[in-house]
Amino acid sequence: MITKAHLQRLGREHGTPLFVVDHDALRRNYREFRRHLPRVQAYFAVKANALPEIVRTFFLEGASFDVASMPEFNIVYANVAGMPPKERQDWIWDKIIYANPNKPVETLQELNQYKPLVTFDNAEELLKIRDHAPQAGVVLRVRVTNTGAMVELSSKFGAAPGEAVDLILLAQKLGLTCEGLSFHVGSQTTNFNNYVEALALCSNIFKEAADRGYRKMNLMDIGGGFPARYDESVKPFRELAKVINNELERLFPKDIQILAEPGRFLVANAGYTVSKVIGKAVRDGKPSYYIDDGVYHTYSGVIFDHCKYPVRAFRKGPTKLSAVYGPTCDALDVVSMAENLPELNRDDLVYSENIGAYSHASSTYFNGFPPAKVVHVNT
Ligand SMILES: Cc1ncc(COP(=O)(O)O)c(C=O)c1O
Repeated sequence: MITKAHLQRLGREHGTPLFVVDHDALRRNYREFRRHLPRVQAYFAVKANALPEIVRTFFLEGASFDVASMPEFNIVYANVAGMPPKERQDWIWDKIIYANPNKPVETLQELNQYKPLVTFDNAEELLKIRDHAPQAGVVLRVRVTNTGAMVELSSKFGAAPGEAVDLILLAQKLGLTCEGLSFHVGSQTTNFNNYVEALALCSNIFKEAADRGYRKMNLMDIGGGFPARYDESVKPFRELAKVINNELERLFPKDIQILAEPGRFLVANAGYTVSKVIGKAVRDGKPSYYIDDGVYHTYSGVIFDHCKYPVRAFRKGPTKLSAVYGPTCDALDVVSMAENLPELNRDDLVYSENIGAYSHASSTYFNGFPPAKVVHVNT
């Protein structure tokens, strides 16, 4: 844990806007995930926060990686570039999945030399893989229920379950090997039943594939979606893990390898932001503060991730309902219209916790303001 005093010190020392990553928290999260889901190989979804230092910490913990673009692949690859070629190839096959169902031809051409696992969810993609990355192993992404997830993904990704076995057989016909299935129940899924339903659905697809003569599937990738505890309403991870373990035990024989692609769960509570009050006003009777970070920057998760990050003051005092705005000229740049804050002065620092996932990762340079400076602690 980073204390409030430490955070304030970092803000003063390094200047603002500042994004702080606590590597102890990264390690704690990874170990918690592994402890409660011992059968599951954890592939960190790099997109949640692609800072190379974060990838490095997970690499040293023995994690595997879900990448979704060539730059993400290369961030992971940098950690194994020095390995002897055979060892490196085995590592890539065992520990990387390229889990973006739609890949540009150029990416497939580059990926082919690494013979990775890649996902797909339609016939057109299979043809592309056959033509440009025939050495890849393929994993079929299946469309599953995303009810109750904070960020839903099923509208854009996943083959209809009814088409799944046809696609698996098509892969075989094209000379590719379908190694297994994957799904994503939607990010920040607090409805555990999504996993139960998805696992039952996939178990039936395994059975139907076997009935139709295809017995080469040996992995089940249960995706991401594991919720971060943004507040007490989110049940502890061990409760979800218990549900998942029961279903895995019941539905998937021991020789089926189980993978997961946790992103948010591993990084959300490891990130903090510290920013500074650069202006203040009273608008419609409400104290309003302009800070040097906003929704085009570290608070981008407010827009893209549908997430809220309470803004807190280091200063103590009676609070009033206040507005907090980002620094840009866009009226969309609103961090919050309702924060309980004491009266703040220009140059006061404020902070937010639990902002490690899908926040700094989608920061822009809009309006000439660069992304926040990053500081790593407990590395
Ligand atoms: C294919 C895939 N895997 C894993 C993740 C990570 O999901 P989460 O951060 O909810 O664990 C995502 C997020 O969008 C994804 O698209």
